[in-house]
Amino acid sequence: MARILVTSALPYINGIKHLGNLVGSQLPADVYARYERARGNEVLFVCATDEHGTPAELAAAKTGEPVADYCARMWGVQKEIADGFRLSFDQFGRSSSPYNHRLTQHFAGRLAEAGLIEEVSEKQVYSNADGRFLPDRYIEGTCPNCGYDRARGDQCENCTKQLDPTDLINPRSAISGSTDLEVRETKHLYLRQSAMRDKLRDWIESKTDWPVLTTSIAKKWLDDGDGLQDRGITRDLDWGIPVRKGTEDWPGMEGKVFYVWFDAPIEYIGASGEWAEATGQTDAAWERWWRTDKGADDVRYVQFMGKDNVPFHTLSFPSTILGSGEPWKLVDYIKSFNYLNYDGGKFSTSQGRGVFMDQALAILPSDYWRWWLMSNVPETSDSNFTWEGFQAGVNKDLADVLGNFVSRVTKFARSRFEEKVPEGGAYGAAEEALIAELETRVRAYEGYMEAIELRKGAQELRAIWAAGNEYLQAAAPWAAFKTEPERAAAIVRLSLNLVRLYAVLSRPFIPDASKAMLATFGLETAGWPGSVAEALGALKPGQAFTTPEVLFAKITDEAREGFAAQFAGTA
Ligand code: MF3
Ligand code: ZN
Repeated sequence: MARILVTSALPYINGIKHLGNLVGSQLPADVYARYERARGNEVLFVCATDEHGTPAELAAAKTGEPVADYCARMWGVQKEIADGFRLSFDQFGRSSSPYNHRLTQHFAGRLAEAGLIEEVSEKQVYSNADGRFLPDRYIEGTCPNCGYDRARGDQCENCTKQLDPTDLINPRSAISGSTDLEVRETKHLYLRQSAMRDKLRDWIESKTDWPVLTTSIAKKWLDDGDGLQDRGITRDLDWGIPVRKGTEDWPGMEGKVFYVWFDAPIEYIGASGEWAEATGQTDAAWERWWRTDKGADDVRYVQFMGKDNVPFHTLSFPSTILGSGEPWKLVDYIKSFNYLNYDGGKFSTSQGRGVFMDQALAILPSDYWRWWLMSNVPETSDSNFTWEGFQAGVNKDLADVLGNFVSRVTKFARSRFEEKVPEGGAYGAAEEALIAELETRVRAYEGYMEAIELRKGAQELRAIWAAGNEYLQAAAPWAAFKTEPERAAAIVRLSLNLVRLYAVLSRPFIPDASKAMLATFGLETAGWPGSVAEALGALKPGQAFTTPEVLFAKITDEAREGFAAQFAGTA
């Protein structure tokens, strides 16, 4: 039995995520975790909300809640949606948890002891009206280059020129609009990532099996002079993890917090601590996943994320881990994704364009989304959501192929053999051919899933469903029954066993339908098939079954048009 640690990039706490976010990390991580569990491996699958930083503070200010209350509430909202999508996290934690506070302060202390932290004095814009320092992008003004009057302190959106806040003409706070700004001196901690360059290069170059998308981004940043600059890891904010050196105060750093991108990945470990606590275990339970001196040396650690997150996971977080000088588990495999577009453009939170996770669940069952998203997961290039494509995927693959197969078999079996797996008859050439085909396809499916080529996995699964459908169509037990009832019995027995096999194989992608299919036979779980031939003999003659409700209802043209109009957005 292998031990597999799976993490999904942590969703920001502010706002509900859209389908593009879902398919870029949490959903594929879930499919993989479910697959590995189904294969009998020991899996720890964690995620959490990413709660710190200015956007969270501003979102809370907008709703008028204290930021801690806002985050607690939004964690609940995101948790409920994750449950709705059947994301099978062992723990859905919070980056504001006490575990993450302790670990983040611990890592900072270790990095300081290793001489990898530098204190730097810098000048930053302070807003008297807001009573706070303003991050560059929260300062607005007129662009000195093109005259655009809503340029941000880091960049002009209009002419793309990179700016310093002090370049702006008539600068004002983007939070309050106040022009009562001044430049103040402030001290920050920098992580000397540049000192880690050789170690990081050796490590990245040793990962010859990583996806091209991951390695190409990692190497670009590693070699690009800008990529591995020393990085400020503290901020002048109220909300965040207070800067401490382990458990001690850090002179000169009073009132400051760690930068959100410093503490967020550490929460992968923190969430594992939260899991141990929530399940009544001791620290040893999470340490055996994370400390190579405490049992984690045989763990395979796989991370899932969108491509924009790759630099943080190939350079920044490994700098923290390696720089600590302690035996923490480093990631073994980084699975990264391209983007999902909505109808040829971007999903837009501000314009309400595209489908958000709560809306998706309100209109259709989660399996429909899971199936379409995973059979179109943007693995090798960006992919595009259209309502026509979605309708076609659901109606053809789920309703016409899988759903139709299950309903034809169970209905026919009920009408001719009562609600029991029939006995009599023997498997012939058609059955042998089907079994041989499935034997090959199931092994191919396993190969893709193990290699985390999930789109190919979905394709193979679809082909496995289609093979059964074609077999049933050709074998036509309804015709055979009139002349050769024994033959019909054999076909039905095999087909009912196929329903069970499909339930097992499909569970990572469509867990609810899988559950309903197993429930047909009064089963809650069923083991992964050794050989297909064996698996197709699992249900014995006389085994009772029921006819499930319609597994997948088709999406009508009318409904599709209604959805397209509803989600078109405002601009
Ligand atoms: N919240 C970040 C995003 O959505 C991802 C954080 S991943 C972590 O882009 F590793 F930092 F946790
Ligand atoms: Zn400009």
